[in-house]
Amino acid sequence: MFASLMGWVDARFPATKMWEDHLSKYYAPKNFNFWYFFGSLAMLILVLQIVTGIFLTMNYKPDAALAFASVEYIMRDVEWGWLIRYLHSTGASAFFVVVYLHMFRGLIYGSYKQPRELVWIFGMFIYMALMAEAFMGYLLPWGQMSFWGAQVIISLFGALPVIGEGLALWIRGDFVVADATLNRFFAFHVIAVPLVLLGLVVAHIIALHEVGSNNPDGVEIKKNKDSNGIPVDGIPFHPYYSVKDIVGVIVFLFIFSLILFYAPEFDGWFLEKDNFIPANPLKTPEHIVPLWYFTPFYAILRAVPDKLLGVMAMGGAQAVLFLLPWLDRSPVKSIRYRGPYFRWALTLFIISFLALGYLGTQPATTLYTNLARVFSIIYFAFFILMPWYTSIDKDKPVPERVTMK
Ligand code: HEM
Repeated sequence: MFASLMGWVDARFPATKMWEDHLSKYYAPKNFNFWYFFGSLAMLILVLQIVTGIFLTMNYKPDAALAFASVEYIMRDVEWGWLIRYLHSTGASAFFVVVYLHMFRGLIYGSYKQPRELVWIFGMFIYMALMAEAFMGYLLPWGQMSFWGAQVIISLFGALPVIGEGLALWIRGDFVVADATLNRFFAFHVIAVPLVLLGLVVAHIIALHEVGSNNPDGVEIKKNKDSNGIPVDGIPFHPYYSVKDIVGVIVFLFIFSLILFYAPEFDGWFLEKDNFIPANPLKTPEHIVPLWYFTPFYAILRAVPDKLLGVMAMGGAQAVLFLLPWLDRSPVKSIRYRGPYFRWALTLFIISFLALGYLGTQPATTLYTNLARVFSIIYFAFFILMPWYTSIDKDKPVPERVTMK
């Protein structure tokens, strides 16, 4: 009966073909390690955010006079409201943890290199959309940090010559962050950006499946096929990786639950303490600090004394990531076979990114600002010098086949 039902469907919609192309006959390299869990985990969190977001929307009020109280109402009076809200707020930070690890995997295994440039570019657009989504979502509880964070970031647009002030006014819909801003951010946060994100994730996966996955050895498995045209180092995604990914999901849910039930605000890192005070346009908090996932870029912004140049440096720090596939001149993909220059450069880059992330959470004292300058220089040097050090690096020979312990 099932076969005849599927026959009927397949004559009208390519259900079996899609199942085979993307799962049961999609051949993935057999040497995936734990770094390959984060793509499926990112998909899981995307679904989690959408589902919890739908339920939050049922009781949230996008009105400057009601928003803060409606979130407290969700936390105290709505049945399981506290769980839904914490799943969503802790889920946002988990999303960035997972996506940063996913991007780091791309860096160490050279997954952005030819032929996966578009997989990376779509990924970068996802990352931009995710940042916009998180930024706009953070305004919605209408706490002190929601208000002042948005005020600071939107006013940055004012630094642009000629159009700046008009642009900032256009984004806010008022002379300061106000009810109009909250309303439009709500519309973008609940529907516009999630739609874009979903579309981008589909494009990301289609692009990946067109060229096939990279792997920890950076060996192209499609170059070595058997007489049936199946890569000798490939295994069907389903059931091998669909089952393996469940292991990643279980480990993730275990750690996520520990945080969710024991430290959902993570001592102010996932929900800032000042955000439990209703927004007050007349009282600026002592330190205006964005959430942790923005702080590396915030530190770069503050490291530059001139406002316009600071905004350009901050934008440049993100834009330069798009160029990675063309900046890296090494013929070798995986860190396993890269020479010492790339390894050192990547180590320094990661140290700088983490240090900037920390400095962005701290008050801008002279010492911290100077440190942020040093780390910003290292951050940019990693990219600007990349064409040079990757072309003269002493890479090791890459094996013909993937390696397995
Ligand atoms: C909502 C966010 C995202 C989702 C749901 C997602 C999903 C996935 C999935 C399912 C895979 C295949 C499994 C894997 O390799 O782990 C993948 C691969 C990949 N993703 Fe993402 N991704 C996201 C964001 C990003 C971002 C922000 C980047 C980089 C800027 C990126 C770059 C890549 C690359 C380069 C690959 C190929 C990796 C390889 O074959 O070695 N992704 N992604």
